[in-house]
Amino acid sequence: MEKEKRDFFLLQRKIFKTRGFEFQYRPGFLKRRFAVRLRARGVTSYRDYAKILDKDPSEYNSLFDALTINITQFFRDPSVYEAFDKQVLPALISTKRRVNRKIIRIWSAGCASGEEPYSIAILLNKVLKERIKNFVVSVWATDIDKDSLAIAKAGIYTHKSLTEVDRNYSSKYFVYTKGKYIVKEDIKRIVRFNRHNFITEEPYTNFDVIFCRNVTIYLTREMQKKLLETFHKCLNKNGYLIIGRSESLLTKGDLFCLVNPEEHIFMKV
Ligand SMILES: C[S@@+](CC[C@H](N)C(=O)[O-])C[C@H]1O[C@@H](n2cnc3c(N)ncnc32)[C@H](O)[C@@H]1O
Repeated sequence: MEKEKRDFFLLQRKIFKTRGFEFQYRPGFLKRRFAVRLRARGVTSYRDYAKILDKDPSEYNSLFDALTINITQFFRDPSVYEAFDKQVLPALISTKRRVNRKIIRIWSAGCASGEEPYSIAILLNKVLKERIKNFVVSVWATDIDKDSLAIAKAGIYTHKSLTEVDRNYSSKYFVYTKGKYIVKEDIKRIVRFNRHNFITEEPYTNFDVIFCRNVTIYLTREMQKKLLETFHKCLNKNGYLIIGRSESLLTKGDLFCLVNPEEHIFMKV
């Protein structure tokens, strides 16, 4: 193997070992993204860049910012949200009422710039209506990418992010001004953004639903399996896990059962 190729391979292996990231991008794309960080740190070889990661672990954050693909949208894959609205939420709310529990906690793991957690909060608001006051409702939204989180916290979007949003929702839950859509306060209030890496950091717990969509493409099968165990621990009894439509985090197993095969919605067993 030529030297540069070998060093690039070793660099990726090191990042996987230390931070759990396996890059499944096309090599050309990956090299262009790494080149940005090499230039920023004033080095010309992968080997020297690996030394920088050892000396200055904060460089991992900058590297991940340069590497992560943060494509997202409000109500991305509308049929998933339809199932959440019509199947998951009514079942969850009726269970909460039956057992007289007032706390509803949802986790958007890998929330990117916030469109996913805000979509969840909009549906909670829509389904619960006035009853929302009777519950303690929160959507925990986490990501490793600080730039995406800054956009998420601001809650200001262009039309491009809202193409799947029902017109009634856009007028009810957003303020439109100067070509921008601003998420209204009663929706923002429900969502809590935090920087968090669900591979390397202690996970949050006691959730009724976890959304982890279009994130696991970065991970090996082994890491996906570990993540599944983590999510199982983080969920309340009979909690739901919702993964991406093109993801196959779960095919079989004794931790979760499928409750909606088309939309990749699972329930903790
Ligand atoms: C393609 S976006 C998906 C956004 C949203 N879930 C959706 O489906 O529209 C993937 C996001 O996952 C985040 N991510 C990747 N690995 C992560 C990790 N280990 N912990 C937290 N976030 C992660 C990335 O930073 C990126 O913002």
